[in-house]
Amino acid sequence: MASKTIPFVYLLMILMAKTDVDAVIGVNWGRESAQRLIPSQVVDLLLQNGVKEARIYSSMDDLLKAFVGSGIGLSLTAFDTTVLQDYNQCLKWVQRRMPYFNDSSVRRVYVGVSPFMLGLSNNKAGLKQNMKVMYNLQKALNDADWGRQVKALFSHSSTELKPNITKPSEAEFLDEIKPEMEETLRFLELNNAPFVVDMIPPIELEKYKLDPSFAFVGESTQVIKDVNGAIYTNIFEFMYDAYVWALIKLKAPKLKIIVGQVGWPSDCYARGNASTVERFFKGLLPYVSSKKGTPLRPGAPIDTFVHALTDENKTPNNFMRHFGIYRSNGKPKFKIDLTGLGRDIYPSSAKGIMKMPERWCVFNGNRADYPMVEKQLKYACKNSDCSSVSPGSSCSDLSPNQIVSFAFNMYFQFKFQDESACHFNGLSYITVENPSTPTCMFPIEVVRGQQENYYYKPIPKAKGHHQSPNCVVSLFLLSLVGALFWN
Ligand SMILES: *[C@@H]1O[C@H](CO)[C@@H](O)[C@H](O)[C@H]1NC(C)=O
Ligand SMILES: *[C@@H]1O[C@H](CO)[C@@H](O)[C@H](O)[C@H]1NC(C)=O
Ligand SMILES: *[C@@H]1O[C@H](CO)[C@@H](O)[C@H](O)[C@H]1NC(C)=O
Repeated sequence: MASKTIPFVYLLMILMAKTDVDAVIGVNWGRESAQRLIPSQVVDLLLQNGVKEARIYSSMDDLLKAFVGSGIGLSLTAFDTTVLQDYNQCLKWVQRRMPYFNDSSVRRVYVGVSPFMLGLSNNKAGLKQNMKVMYNLQKALNDADWGRQVKALFSHSSTELKPNITKPSEAEFLDEIKPEMEETLRFLELNNAPFVVDMIPPIELEKYKLDPSFAFVGESTQVIKDVNGAIYTNIFEFMYDAYVWALIKLKAPKLKIIVGQVGWPSDCYARGNASTVERFFKGLLPYVSSKKGTPLRPGAPIDTFVHALTDENKTPNNFMRHFGIYRSNGKPKFKIDLTGLGRDIYPSSAKGIMKMPERWCVFNGNRADYPMVEKQLKYACKNSDCSSVSPGSSCSDLSPNQIVSFAFNMYFQFKFQDESACHFNGLSYITVENPSTPTCMFPIEVVRGQQENYYYKPIPKAKGHHQSPNCVVSLFLLSLVGALFWN
């Protein structure tokens, strides 16, 4: 009877699916921007582009609600690490989110923002506090019967590794954080949780003095030979195996590694524009989904989260502001196939975006009161985003007048084109003539999306953390504009 064979075929399919695990390509979405997509638009975008997992830097209800029933695996972030040191608070936290856990596929809860940064900035107490949160949150998850599906963990970065390596086998965690790292690794092993690494290849290429071509999978002219015949031709495999080695040295050779963040900026970096980002992912994503693995872990699927869905023009670190696939108007900047099939396609545009009118706020060119121009320029930049005028960026060759206009316009758009925001002591006016140049876009923004429900704790400053000589809009630069006016 045919009906008897069907369950067997299903069983076979399930078995095959279980042994032949696909690597996940996820996407990260942060809300550190003046203009934001609303959560339902984001879920819609992810579904349209075949994205199966997302990492959000929040655990707010509005977000969780939007993901319910989408089938998209979700990684949350818990920032309130002071309160959550207490087990009972953790239990409350879990119970309050239980309806979402039931109806969506929550997989991870990140605790804080790279807590090991604290340990590296002489704040061991802060690190220990975050560890306590991780332990108590996992215990609460276990006690609520969600522990097998949902893991509490940290994300880690190359700042935690010794800096002067020339090949992955030399990698090792820094001595000053080793005791806490060992404890963390034992905890992850016990919970069957992965070790999550955040990669920022432009920073890591600089840090390890690697050839620029080493960024692009399959295109490098540099080859690094390591022990046991291992050969590295790109930064992704290099970093991945560097972490494997660091784990081996702390006796955690089998711990699964997930790449919780990887990306390339499209601006604010001399080697960053839309075509470089396109090229970067065009090599990386098909490699990740090929399950080729790395020399140390051949054939291992590497779950990888693309950073990020949208630009974040309010993130405190300028360098991290232009990592978005999408501009805030919901249009993609470059081609990327988020399914990992390597197709030459643009991701679909966000639906239901409402643009503001085509209006810009610009400088009227009156330089009579130079110090006032300078003062207004600094004010506009301080309260919006002038990162695109930094050296090597898309707007770095603007004239002084244009720079002032750029800054005024950014502020005006940050304020959702509120006319009172285009005042600047009488130095500006609103225009319908687009002041953009061939390389520098003066954006107009989208209508105010969701601004509520927003909690952010600034990233602690730690040595080497995502720092780069790139994308610094220094007061010096802004003063330079002033100085040019004097001449
Ligand atoms: C969620 O699922 C648990 C069992 O897994 C159940 O006890 C609880 O009542 C459910 N909660 C909601 C709000 O559906
Ligand atoms: C890195 O630097 C430290 C201290 O300067 C030194 O002990 C170590 O051998 C170096 N490692 C490599 C791989 O060069
Ligand atoms: C993008 O950057 C690359 C590498 O720096 C450069 O070769 C290319 O000309 C740039 N493309 C554009 C359109 O600016």
